[in-house]
Amino acid sequence: MRLRRSRNMTCYWHEGLFVLHPYPHGTPTAMHPAVAEILAAFEDWTGRAEAAKALDHIDPETLEEAVLALLGAGALLAEDSPEARRDAETAETWGQWAPEAPFFHYVTQDVLLGRHEETGGTPQADRADRADRADRADQVDRADSAAMPPLFTRYEDGPRIPLPRRPADLRIPYEQVLYGRRTHRDFAPGPVARSVLATLLATTFGPVDFIDCGVGGLFRRTSPAGGSRQEIDAYVGVLGVEDVAPGWYHYNALEHSLELRTEGLARERAAHLAADQEWAGRAAFLVVLAARLERMSVKYPTPRGYRVCTLNCGHLGQTFALTATALGLGPAQTGAFHDTLVAEACALDNSGHTPLYLLAAGHPVTGGEGRDTPPPATLDTFRITRLQD
Ligand SMILES: Cc1cc2nc3c(=O)[nH]c(=O)nc-3n(C[C@H](O)[C@H](O)[C@H](O)COP(=O)(O)O)c2cc1C
Repeated sequence: MRLRRSRNMTCYWHEGLFVLHPYPHGTPTAMHPAVAEILAAFEDWTGRAEAAKALDHIDPETLEEAVLALLGAGALLAEDSPEARRDAETAETWGQWAPEAPFFHYVTQDVLLGRHEETGGTPQADRADRADRADRADQVDRADSAAMPPLFTRYEDGPRIPLPRRPADLRIPYEQVLYGRRTHRDFAPGPVARSVLATLLATTFGPVDFIDCGVGGLFRRTSPAGGSRQEIDAYVGVLGVEDVAPGWYHYNALEHSLELRTEGLARERAAHLAADQEWAGRAAFLVVLAARLERMSVKYPTPRGYRVCTLNCGHLGQTFALTATALGLGPAQTGAFHDTLVAEACALDNSGHTPLYLLAAGHPVTGGEGRDTPPPATLDTFRITRLQD
């Protein structure tokens, strides 16, 4: 029986141990780092005797033991086995996204979220959870409560702009908003009113109400959020907003204010931050969604929690787009941006507090399609389009 090294495997040191982590079939296994040399001898389908020849400086018994352990861990695969077929298929399917994307995807698959996950975050379930917790020593709850990060981010010392509280009109029929939403890449010049920006920020990121999670309060927004952790903060890059100087601000959702992070923002710079996409420089403002990771990880200690952060961004992005549309603005969004530069612009450490998504909006151009609007599909388009399998 010939053997081959798994094509889908990441190796790393964790807590002082060398770990082989094959996916999706294998299990993470701590082994001596010298096994890397043995795995290299099985680069392609290789018989054990042939490998032993190439590894003749290793005692044959030790080698056999290591090979069995590597087979058991799924790091070596047997020719024509279902595991080997799946391994080849996975490597081919994920292609250039490997190893980063499939590794994260599979190692967080079937991994439950961790502490409190059984509550599902619902008030009813949380209440049951609370009842259980009441039976525990009081000091445990107090310790839990003290360990909870603050619900809202606030920058004490910087200059701030309190935003108007009177909301701009949002009473436009839902159907018009839903079907009227489009991604805009061209924007009319002229600043957006401060009250319109204020309404968009409050509606998308502001608290709607507060709930009791058993170890303190949480707040809810107009978008659903995993465990109601609200780990996503909003940072606004102002290019053209009435009475707000260009620069980067944090939206303080509790206070409903803009807190200055860094001064100045040129349109060319905005485009550069968005991976050199010119439309971002034409917008009236950008909004960076940045995760404050500890708000999520304190409740969900497994890496799957990171998936939930990105899902939450998607929800907020959609609410942003629909609300911007209802306010007469053109929304846009991108996952392509210079993370490090964006973090710097927002004065974020980019470790515990890191950008995940970039949104934008401005006045849409009227009476024309605007630059960079994709043309409608024609008969010729459909001639070269495979509509179904
Ligand atoms: C997560 C995400 C990332 C996107 N990234 C980009 C981008 O980098 N550049 C861009 O021009 N449009 C981007 N878009 C916009 C899509 O191209 C657009 O949503 C799609 O063409 C459908 O058009 P519609 O939004 O008008 O329905 C992105 C959209 C989403 C949801």
